[in-house]
Amino acid sequence: MFRPAPWGMPVRGTQGVLMEEESVAAERIHLWDRDTLEEEAWLIHLPSSRHASDVTVTELTDTAGRAPGNAKSALRPHPFEDLACRLLSALCDGPGLVVLRGLPLDELSDQACAELCRSAISLAGTPRPPESAAPMDHLLTTVPTSRVSAPADPDDILRGPAEEAALAPHTDRAGPSGPPRLLALLCVRPALKGGESLLVSGHSVHDRLSADRPAVLSTLYRDFYFGAERNLARSGPVFTRSDGRLQVRYNRYQIERGHHAAGEPLTAAQVEALDAFDEVLGDESLFLRLPLRRGDLLMLNNNTVLHGRTSFTDHPDPLQHRCLARAWAD
Ligand SMILES: [Fe+2]
Repeated sequence: MFRPAPWGMPVRGTQGVLMEEESVAAERIHLWDRDTLEEEAWLIHLPSSRHASDVTVTELTDTAGRAPGNAKSALRPHPFEDLACRLLSALCDGPGLVVLRGLPLDELSDQACAELCRSAISLAGTPRPPESAAPMDHLLTTVPTSRVSAPADPDDILRGPAEEAALAPHTDRAGPSGPPRLLALLCVRPALKGGESLLVSGHSVHDRLSADRPAVLSTLYRDFYFGAERNLARSGPVFTRSDGRLQVRYNRYQIERGHHAAGEPLTAAQVEALDAFDEVLGDESLFLRLPLRRGDLLMLNNNTVLHGRTSFTDHPDPLQHRCLARAWAD
């Protein structure tokens, strides 16, 4: 019977205990850059038999919602059982990211795509409630949500393509219980130009700092403030070790915002450490650049991989603007 492994535990652990040699191997597999990460480690093509209309929101939800002790559901293997194991393997014991390519979105509304994204992330974890952050955080688009299904406004088309700035690599926050362990982004519509996802291994950043700027690491293992929202966890270190595994949490903008809101300016040592972190992020050889296609589902271990985005130009028609569905899970 399929049972997702508890997060924070290795998929192949022994009685739930992370053995030392497994820990070392797990750390090494998280250490990658643009030149060392093989496509086969993160790309899963949906089987061609699943490209038709037989992949449905209901089917994915049914897979994810099966209780482990449900005798009826245990009678037959589920078609997504192997897929779920591969997702978990890539996220826990692999590079911390995976792309499931080929989800059929034809005739699905944006809202239905958001539900599909949430169902898919359920294969690997327990989804956070959709209302854990801003109400419309599950659909990322530059179109006002009230207009997603409305006819395009000719005035908007006349205004021409919209430009959006790049997003620096960061990890996500999502609720009062702290950063989510999983992030899923389903590409509903790519941008007209640009908007590639940028992915960086937190282990590689740590490794580079350890080699080049070891003096700043101790500061990054101490608490920073993150953001100013009352409904989100607001403090924690950039690097931590949990069960022997390295975890990263980073967002320079939110750290500066958080310290300002708390009335505690960053110290000179903290600024130096954050500058060193950003300096490493300035090396594009660490980035995996992913131009997501419609129907690509990107899933990340938000505790080990940072994500960002290149700048993009949107289609003149607001109804064809770039749109990603997003879900978080633990
Ligand atoms: Fe994000």
